[in-house]
Amino acid sequence: MQGRERGQWASRFGFLMAAAGSAIGLGNIWRFPYLAGENGGSAFILIYIFFVIILGISLMLTEFTIGRRAKSSAVGAYKSVNKSWTFAGFLGVLTAFLIMGYYPVVGGWSLAYIFKSVSGLLSAPDSIGGAFESFAYGTWEPLLFVLLFMAANIVVVVKGVVGGIEKAAKILMPLLFGLLFVLIIKGLTLEGAQAGLDFLFKPNFVDALNGKVVLTAMGQAFLSLSLGMGAMITYGSYLDKDADMPSNAAMVSALDTMVALMAGLAIFPALFAFGFEPKAGPGLVFIVVPTIFANMGVIGPVLSVLFFTALFVAALTSTVSLLEVVSAYLIDEHGVSRQTAVVSLSVVMTIFCAISSLSLGGTVPALPLFNVPMFDFLDLLTDKVFLASGGVLVSVFAGWFIKREDLERELSNDGRKPFALFNVWYFLVKYLIPVFVTVVAISGMMAIKEKSVLIAGIVIILGLGVFSKKL
Ligand code: PHE
Repeated sequence: MQGRERGQWASRFGFLMAAAGSAIGLGNIWRFPYLAGENGGSAFILIYIFFVIILGISLMLTEFTIGRRAKSSAVGAYKSVNKSWTFAGFLGVLTAFLIMGYYPVVGGWSLAYIFKSVSGLLSAPDSIGGAFESFAYGTWEPLLFVLLFMAANIVVVVKGVVGGIEKAAKILMPLLFGLLFVLIIKGLTLEGAQAGLDFLFKPNFVDALNGKVVLTAMGQAFLSLSLGMGAMITYGSYLDKDADMPSNAAMVSALDTMVALMAGLAIFPALFAFGFEPKAGPGLVFIVVPTIFANMGVIGPVLSVLFFTALFVAALTSTVSLLEVVSAYLIDEHGVSRQTAVVSLSVVMTIFCAISSLSLGGTVPALPLFNVPMFDFLDLLTDKVFLASGGVLVSVFAGWFIKREDLERELSNDGRKPFALFNVWYFLVKYLIPVFVTVVAISGMMAIKEKSVLIAGIVIILGLGVFSKKL
């Protein structure tokens, strides 16, 4: 849409909180700490940080640059440079849409657990595992909470970039940091906390320096920084022409890494102090963590409320960015009003989430062609196939299809703020990153057991390539 007033972040702090909010999500809290512990402790963390610096910051900067240059959604950003690339923008929007078909289910669980923390869940420590399964595999309760979670997304995104997303992030992100800080202090002061620190940080280069672990670190950096699907293109498109993009990309990446480490410090010292086994994923946060709190006496429920509030905030600020990616497409490309876009998309996404949620307990049967529940299907398709492909596409696009001078002009704010590392960044984006990300993408795809999902993903990408020019 030409001429329509687009939103623009009102302050640098607001933008940083919003972009960090997108990046900081379940990936930081339930995935990173476990990966670090399993794969060589601080040796893994060093490798991870290396990839955040080399690959993460550079790609995030690439996405900011593409977004701000085009001042439009991901689809418009690709299209404005080269029509044949429109499909890459569509792939991003589709990825965001499909992630919104299952990620909010977990957001709903976090919300539910804020209440469950104080309504009896913790009084029977031995049945917390069973309680989680009967809740998450149930019918109405998870649906109710996914509905509430989606309503929270609507409330934020409908108010727009400044009045909604930025305002919410400025309150919620500092809250998240504060909550994690309290939990860390509590965890570290427990007797036996040292074993958790050993698990997280003990350097083991023998375990860490093998191909699989290096790829895991690279893939995690990528997912955790919300790259490869247009979120940072969209958020970058609301930056003003004087914004210092390189330092913003570095700040957001640093905050994301900091919260991943904080989550590890909030969970593992306490976990080991109580003699539990480390895990990843829903089992860690919805079973092991509440069991720890259940063993802490009167303070347990209070800390549990803090923890699930933090998880809820982390999930919400990520889903807000996903909803914005798809909404921005409808607003910018089709002239739909923000309200109509946000509400109608949320309704469709909620329906997808309902199916995903019900697919977990088998109320909705596994998808016929793929033989996996809808929830797992969307997770595999987006995480393993679409995000990785999107990452390859965005770097090839920036490195090979946008003119070097154009990138330099945009990155240096028309020469007003020269970017000293431009040549290094350009080299990384043009040569190194496409190769790195292609290796991660292919190895991730090969690891998918359900080959039919992989085939479907490839067919969808090819289909977008063929048809999107007509859209
Ligand atoms: N970065 C988020 C996380 O760590 C996941 C995400 C990916 C969110 C892509 C938005 C876009 O959980």
